[in-house]
Amino acid sequence: MARIIGVFSGKGGVGKTTFVANIGAALAHDFGRRVVAVDANTSGSSLGVHLGMHFNPLNLNNVLRGEANPFDALSEHGSGMWVLPASIKLRDYFVDYSKIPDVIGELAKRFEIVLVDTAPSLGEETLWVLNAVNEAIIVTNPDLPSVIEALKMAKLINTYGIKLLGVILNRQRKKAPLSREQVMALLGLPLIGEIPEDRRVEEGIKYSIPVVHLYPDAKVSLAMKKIAGELVGEGFQYPSLFQMLKRRLGL
Ligand SMILES: Nc1ncnc2c1ncn2[C@@H]1O[C@H](COP(=O)(O)OP(=O)(O)OP(=O)(O)O)[C@@H](O)[C@H]1O
Ligand SMILES: [Mg+2]
Repeated sequence: MARIIGVFSGKGGVGKTTFVANIGAALAHDFGRRVVAVDANTSGSSLGVHLGMHFNPLNLNNVLRGEANPFDALSEHGSGMWVLPASIKLRDYFVDYSKIPDVIGELAKRFEIVLVDTAPSLGEETLWVLNAVNEAIIVTNPDLPSVIEALKMAKLINTYGIKLLGVILNRQRKKAPLSREQVMALLGLPLIGEIPEDRRVEEGIKYSIPVVHLYPDAKVSLAMKKIAGELVGEGFQYPSLFQMLKRRLGL
């Protein structure tokens, strides 16, 4: 059976979509996994923008409105990951969220891993995703508002009986309001991994290229690839200086 992993946060803007785009790309490209990323944040979709797939003729909104089947709305990303983006158009706003579990269930028949990007807040679309996934990851930032919302999200996930894999601490930096230890003590959950704050992440979004591809040897990208490896029980081999140099020279 496929692993269906929902990426949640509670608070918005903490890096869920960035995580799904990059981890999905790394799972496909670096670990050879058959992975599909689904943008189940139809009310504020951005996975397509992160990956340059927002102009797809068909998307999840069409599928949820019964206008297309999920496989017709899929596109392959350059990394080898498959993507079911959502529409960025206001006129596509209204969809039937109750179909989300069926759509994800269909995809799970043909993929090894289904990574599901979700909306912030505990609204209806998030609740339908909770009915569709069998594993969950919580992304948070090292600040009190995101940690409080993450805690609420963790409690909600537990009421659904979903396996909560743990927490991704994103945008960690030296002068963060909370240290890693403080965040983990507040949450009381396992830490899957830490992703540093890095302006190159935004640059990647600007060019619709995941930072793991745009800057494959940057610390932030290596941290993401390591997390991807851990999610599938594989160690990540850090590139040597020589390998990085060769890559930079295009050799
Ligand atoms: N590690 C990082 N370093 C620097 N900037 C980051 C990092 N991770 C995410 N960001 C920035 O944070 C912003 C929000 O990221 P993202 O869209 O992934 O969050 P989100 O949780 O999906 O938001 P929403 O809840 O609105 O869907 C983006 O502009 C992105 O560039
Ligand atoms: Mg998002």
